Amino acid sequence: MTTGFAPAAQPSPTRSAIAAQVRDVVKTYGRGDTAVRALDGVNLEIAAERFTAVMGPSGSGKSTLMHALAGLDTINAGQVLLGDTDLSGLGERKRTLLRRDRIGFVFQSFNLVPTLTAAENIVLPLPLAGRPPDRAWIDDLVATLGLGDRLRHRPAELSGGQQQRVAVARALAARPQIVFADEPTGNLDSRAGEALLSFLRHAAHELGQTIVMVTHDPNAAAFADRVVFLADGRVVGDLAEPTAAAILSRMASIDAPATRKTR
Ligand SMILES: Nc1ncnc2c1ncn2[C@@H]1O[C@H](COP(=O)(O)OP(=O)(O)OP(=O)(O)O)[C@@H](O)[C@H]1O
Ligand SMILES: [Mg+2]
Repeated sequence: MTTGFAPAAQPSPTRSAIAAQVRDVVKTYGRGDTAVRALDGVNLEIAAERFTAVMGPSGSGKSTLMHALAGLDTINAGQVLLGDTDLSGLGERKRTLLRRDRIGFVFQSFNLVPTLTAAENIVLPLPLAGRPPDRAWIDDLVATLGLGDRLRHRPAELSGGQQQRVAVARALAARPQIVFADEPTGNLDSRAGEALLSFLRHAAHELGQTIVMVTHDPNAAAFADRVVFLADGRVVGDLAEPTAAAILSRMASIDAPATRKTR
């Protein structure tokens, strides 16, 4: 296995491997006739210090999966592990603490605090995480996301894309171990989107940040190291080092009626 050329300082493959994982996870919403099996036995390992994209049709379970991975929601069966910690075994309070200390989340609906300015929203998690703000890091985030001239405005005074960028800055501000971003480029024009995606890629590769991003856009997913495809609450595909063309062709084969299971 060893070539004898690996530098001694390199982390061992087993240590650096898995930031989070789900095992046989089932999540249902509702009961009886109206029950929806949003996750139907999902198994997935998220590599540490890598940028992973999650794709799939609307309603395929992407947001549900992100919420389960981040401990924002309970599951009906299976296991969710963050590093070595089994979230399914933790009570609400411990899950809250773990989220605060180790997880950043960009919600599909932004979830900004309406009474606070953009700047206040961005630094909101810092006192909670119990770490002093890293000013240079936050300045870098604000500049990369093009928010410099909007910092004193409240969410209602910002465009959808600007609110989205504030939500991204907030999720990354405390430099959490793992960041989950649910369609973070959904409201951005292509230039702002590419700046954000390049930054996420840089954060994973150069700064050791683990990132999991949901997207519908093959060009956005092509910035990631890997794309995982969901359909009907299951993992149905996995692409390493994806290109937009490879993603498109995989999406086409997943959507093909012949491969679609009936419900
Ligand atoms: N709180 C809820 N109550 C009932 N059903 C829900 C709830 N949240 C999600 N669902 C259902 O679970 C399924 C998966 O939803 P989810 O939000 O994970 O999809 P998604 O892949 O993120 O879709 P989109 O691309 O539209 O955001 C859908 O059928 C949805 O209607
Ligand atoms: Mg969603």
